[in-house]
Amino acid sequence: MDMQLHDKTVLVTGAGSGIGRAIALALGEEDASVVVNDLTTEGCEESLSLLRARNVRCCAAAFDVSQLQQAKAAVKDIENAFGAIDVLVNSAAVIINNRSFMDSRPEDCEREIQVSLFGTMHCTRAVLPGMTARACGRIVNIVSDAARVGQEKEVAYSSGKGGIISFTKSLAREVGRHGITVNAVSPAATDTPLRRTLLARMSERLGAEAVAAREEKIRKAYPLRRIGQPGDTAAMVTFLASSRASHITGQIYSVNGGFAMPG
Ligand SMILES: NC(=O)c1ccc[n+]([C@@H]2O[C@H](COP(=O)([O-])OP(=O)(O)OC[C@H]3O[C@@H](n4cnc5c(N)ncnc54)[C@H](O)[C@@H]3O)[C@@H](O)[C@H]2O)c1
Repeated sequence: MDMQLHDKTVLVTGAGSGIGRAIALALGEEDASVVVNDLTTEGCEESLSLLRARNVRCCAAAFDVSQLQQAKAAVKDIENAFGAIDVLVNSAAVIINNRSFMDSRPEDCEREIQVSLFGTMHCTRAVLPGMTARACGRIVNIVSDAARVGQEKEVAYSSGKGGIISFTKSLAREVGRHGITVNAVSPAATDTPLRRTLLARMSERLGAEAVAAREEKIRKAYPLRRIGQPGDTAAMVTFLASSRASHITGQIYSVNGGFAMPG
């Protein structure tokens, strides 16, 4: 199916790694022009090389999504260079804590929510004037099944993602009249650097054997008997970013191998 993205410009946050990178590559494969955001230019470099190797028109936009002025300045530069931002994918996030809420540091909780929830709001705030003026746009937010079903030891992270779910639905109601859709994709456990870092920390605490046993238990909790790969989420994002999804807004789609089946 042609996703009709070939004349579109997309901005993907947190695209220097993991799921964000897979989304950038998938949208590039559909012939979109891709702007790769991450914290630093160096952090964008590997994704840019992969895109260039596929002849995708691309560039880096290094900024911290939790800083509104940085987001606004970057969006202005991108709009000047490419004419417009047609699709925004908010994927940047951090997990600093994996302790119980009682043992977590308030400043770590704040940072997790600043990057995910406020980062999503800031980037969205920056692109909306252009999308509204052109009466079209696609916003896709990456949330998490940790928010949909709850996740111990990721309380602040999950709360930020829960906030994005509410933001997605409420904003969809406001901007639908301007031809802008707002949806969210909700992965469950996905094999990325973020998850591997969490596993390494766990391994230091519990030992490699205990972590391997836990991983096997997790795999069996998935009806499809595997955790996600970044491309699984990217496929759903590509559809929602396309004109094929023009009558879908305010929806939250889990891509989770059946791990949870929220009503
Ligand atoms: N991996 C999983 O198991 C999993 C599960 C559910 C949801 N998710 C979500 O998927 C998305 C991508 O996660 P991932 O696993 O690919 O993580 P990742 O750590 O591999 O990639 C996240 C990227 O975001 C960047 N980033 C962090 N803070 C930033 C900031 N302030 N400004 C700009 N960029 C910033 C990081 O540098 C990194 O490159 C996140 O929203 C995450 O919450 C991941």
